[in-house]
Amino acid sequence: MSGRGFSGQGFFVTGTDTSVGKTCIAAALLHGFAASGLSCVGMKPVAAGCDWRDAVAYWGDVEQLIAASSVQADPAWVNPYRFEPPIAPHLAAAQAGVTIQLDKIVAACRALQAQADVVVVEGAGGWLVPLNAQHSMADLASQLGLPVILVVGMRLGCINHALLTAAAIQQSGVPLAGWVANQIMPDMPAFDANLAAIQTHIAAPLLGAQPWFATPDQNNVVLHLNLDAVLNR
Ligand SMILES: Nc1ncnc2c1ncn2[C@@H]1O[C@H](COP(=O)(O)OP(=O)(O)OP(=O)(O)O)[C@@H](O)[C@H]1O
Ligand SMILES: [Mg+2]
Repeated sequence: MSGRGFSGQGFFVTGTDTSVGKTCIAAALLHGFAASGLSCVGMKPVAAGCDWRDAVAYWGDVEQLIAASSVQADPAWVNPYRFEPPIAPHLAAAQAGVTIQLDKIVAACRALQAQADVVVVEGAGGWLVPLNAQHSMADLASQLGLPVILVVGMRLGCINHALLTAAAIQQSGVPLAGWVANQIMPDMPAFDANLAAIQTHIAAPLLGAQPWFATPDQNNVVLHLNLDAVLNR
């Protein structure tokens, strides 16, 4: 593994909910890693909910992660499962007559790890989202064995969501590398006090506090991430 002292194999980015900024932070991490001289690739194991361009379906998260990656890998590894409806992954899979196989995702991740210094894996929804009748995103993260970065969407209720998610991550036995406070609304009342409350109660470092951006882009977002803390160097 090349790249300025980093000896890990990647990160698993989860969030307190859907639409809290996981893709935004994952893309910014990739951008920062690439700028640090690390080869990197994003992975979205399961994408549910597509958009349409000229009558062709596309999955925005997958496109954003690919655009932010320095290694252009096989799209079938980057995104093993994609479904059209914006519904829970196990439901979307069932509608498509598919059973999501963790083994297939793990194999794709290992293939990506062979091609890049860092693989940034973005979950779907939150930590305990089911993937099939037996397994959840937490089981997938455990099997991948990557340290977790928790993106907290800073809004009313986020303290409870952040601490519940951190407790569930701890229960899964996966290391929590840190958390990111992401301001997903322009004027969250008592933002600093909410951040401080989470920081007091969570046993993991704050890796960045993201302000609300009128037009978020990874160049801005990465400025508010402590990459040295992420890479533990
Ligand atoms: N700090 C921010 N300031 C302003 N807008 C933000 C910020 N972070 C994220 N957003 C916006 O919020 C929306 C949701 O972000 P994003 O797609 O990264 O969430 P997600 O957790 O990946 O969602 P999903 O569960 O669908 O994967 C996007 O439109 C994104 O641009
Ligand atoms: Mg996303």
